Order: sequence, then structure tokens, then C-alpha cells
Amino acid sequence: MTTNPELENKSLIEQFKETRERTLEIVKTLEKDDFVVQTAVFMSPPKWHIGHVSWIYEAIMSKIDKNYEFYSKEFSEYLNSYYQQFGVPHDKALRGIISRPTVDEIFQYFNTVNQRVLEFIRTQSLDSESIRLITMGFHHECQHQELLIYDLQHLLAEQYRPVRKNQMPNSTSTYPDFVRIDGGIFSVGYNGNEYCYDIELPEHKVYLNDFKIDVFPVTNKQFLEFIKDEGYQTYKYWLSDGWEKVKKNGWNAPMYWEEIDGEWHIRDFRGIRKIDPREPVCHVSFYEADAYCKWAGKRLPTEAEWEKAACWNEERQEKTIFPWGNEGPSKQNCNLLESYNWGCTQIGSYPEGMSYYGCQHMIGDVWEWTSSEFVGYPGFRSGFDEYNDKWFTNQKVLRGGSFGTPQMSIRGSYRNFFRLDERWLFSGFRCAEDA
Ligand SMILES: [Fe+2]
Repeated sequence: MTTNPELENKSLIEQFKETRERTLEIVKTLEKDDFVVQTAVFMSPPKWHIGHVSWIYEAIMSKIDKNYEFYSKEFSEYLNSYYQQFGVPHDKALRGIISRPTVDEIFQYFNTVNQRVLEFIRTQSLDSESIRLITMGFHHECQHQELLIYDLQHLLAEQYRPVRKNQMPNSTSTYPDFVRIDGGIFSVGYNGNEYCYDIELPEHKVYLNDFKIDVFPVTNKQFLEFIKDEGYQTYKYWLSDGWEKVKKNGWNAPMYWEEIDGEWHIRDFRGIRKIDPREPVCHVSFYEADAYCKWAGKRLPTEAEWEKAACWNEERQEKTIFPWGNEGPSKQNCNLLESYNWGCTQIGSYPEGMSYYGCQHMIGDVWEWTSSEFVGYPGFRSGFDEYNDKWFTNQKVLRGGSFGTPQMSIRGSYRNFFRLDERWLFSGFRCAEDA
């Protein structure tokens, strides 16, 4: 921990600038028309994300400084996502139907907020709580960078031109299918000294039975077997609510899959291409993940099992922040946003990212559905009203980050959450079994 407040504020400024630049880079090649369109009720126009990630800093500054004045009431109403404490938010499903504020005005707002935040950090005496809140603003922006990428997939897919795009690693190595992990008392939750969300705390003990967990997320090859075996047509694999979704939405494959001349293809950032059997399956809902597991005679891991498989070192009897240790993520050990692969890598591409138990791809590539309900940990205390805690119902926890997650915003203890039928995110899963 830094004790010199000047140094701490300097690193705050650096983190802020870096985060803001990343947001701009993601939208740098968009045409102006792209910024305004909302192609589904679950996505938001890029213009809205640019404004909203800025607006949250205003919300944070208003908490720290009671005299803070918001830029504009009109902007606040449009850019407030769901915070009732800041007024009545504009309807999410209707973010694409208004042309004002204009795209230019939103970028002007983005720049004005930049100046305000920098001025705020430089001139206000910031206590540890204020620093925590401003840092939360960076992490919030990272979350929206990833959401923006989901939305660009829906809006543009192969027509999106990333500023940076790297050559994919590939792999032909083979590994065991699963590992066996001893149960017992395990401490779940964040135990480091840097930023984490309120929902990762407090670290607390749970009891686990012995279990087995897959070395890799379920691949397209494996998921194709489920499709060929009429998994989508067989009610007995599905939860009742899931079966309703299958019938109502006509699901017969993951989202963005298309059958062309009898062969499954995907349309994504890398084009319209044949399904790669060695990539993790992506764009499945919790219901599909759960149905696959039932078909395979397995189950989803709980989030505690997932965390133990990812971060517990049995030999040293300690939990690390990442599967490979306490060093932050790099291109060598996982596929996160800064790898700029714009898609999943083949399984086995990151042996350096392996956990103590031998699990791979636990960080990056796809978020992994767990069977755990998203609720507060025992002793939970809210770190920002309405941010996380108002969603403690009807959602499942996902772990591990995806190829759209910025490096600074992921950890082994990070808990993402989505409703059970959502699948526009980069979501996959791995299977577990009782040992
Ligand atoms: Fe947000």
C-alpha cells in the first residue's frame, strides 16, 4: 500500500488516463452512425456507454463533495443507468430512440468530465474512502468497455475494425480431461491488498466435498455433440424455465451460430467462419450450460469450487489472486482484452496460466457460469448503494473474465453476474462432478 498521498494520487491519475484512453480506442474506428443505434433491448448504443462511464464519475464526485454540481440535468437523466438515488433513469430499452444529446455533445461531455476528475484529484484532499470510490469509477469503466464490446459484436460483428489485432496463439497439446480436488474448509473471497468490489468481501469459510473439475472450459466440439444428440430438442436435460426459453426463442445452438449448407458457422469479430472445435463454446446462457452438464452426466461447479480450483495452492497452503500466482495478468498467461485477439483462443494456448491443480483458461477467453446464486457473502456490506447489491436476486455468478475483459479489472475472486437466459456476453462454462 502506498502511504504518500501525492504518490497515490499520481497513480490514480495514471490509472484514470489509461482507462479513459482505452474507452476511446475501442470506439476509434466507428462511424458516427454506429454510435446511435440500439439493435436489441439488452444492448446500449455506443454513444450511451461513452456518456454513462463519464456520468458515473460525476455521481462519485457528488458523493465525495456535497457541493458538486452535475454538468446537466438532461445528460444525467439519459446517462443514469439504474440509480434511483440520482433521479428517474431513462428507459434502458429506449436508449437508441433519441438523437440528443448528440454524439459530438457526448464526446464534449466525456472531455469535460476528464478535466473535472483530474482537477478534482489534484485539488481535493482525498481520504482512503474517496480514493476507493474514484478507483471504483475506473473499474466501472472497465466493465462498460467489455459491455461495449458485447454490444459491438451485436451491432457490427465482423464489420468492426479494431485498432489493434494480434495473431492468435494456437495449440495442439493434450492434457487430462479433469482434475480431482480434495474438499474441506476453504476460504472464499478476496484476500489481497488492492481494489476489489464489495461483493468479493468478506472472505469467509465454506465447506466443500471432494470434487472433480474439467481442465478446460467445454469446447465447441463437445457442445456440437450435445446439439447432434438433440440436446436442444430433449426436455429432460432442461430446467423448466430453460425449456420455456428454448421453445419461446427457438434456440437450437449458441447465440451467433448459423447453419450454412449443413455446417455450423459463427459470425463474430473474426468473420463468418466454421466453428473451431478447439475453442471454448461461447454465447451460451446459464440454461444451456446447465442442460449440457445434465446431458453429460455432470454439473456446473459452485463458485467456491471454481475459486479453489483456480487459486488454491495445496502445497503452500495459500490462496493466490490469480491461478498462476499474485502477479497481474499478461499476454503470456491468458486471453484478456489487451491480448487483442478479439475472440476465444484454442484450449491449451496458455499452459503458463495453469492453476496449481492443473486447470487452464480459468482467467480470460470466456466467463464461466457457476451454479451459485448471486447473493451477498455472509457479512456483506455495500460499498456503493445500488451498484451491486440491488441485483441479489434471479442472477447466477460467472467467474474468470473473457477476451473482452481489461486486464486491470479481473481477479480470481471477481464475481460477475447475469440473468439465467442472457447470452450476448462472452459466456461459456466448465463441468464439475462429485468425486
Ligand atoms: Fe454502469
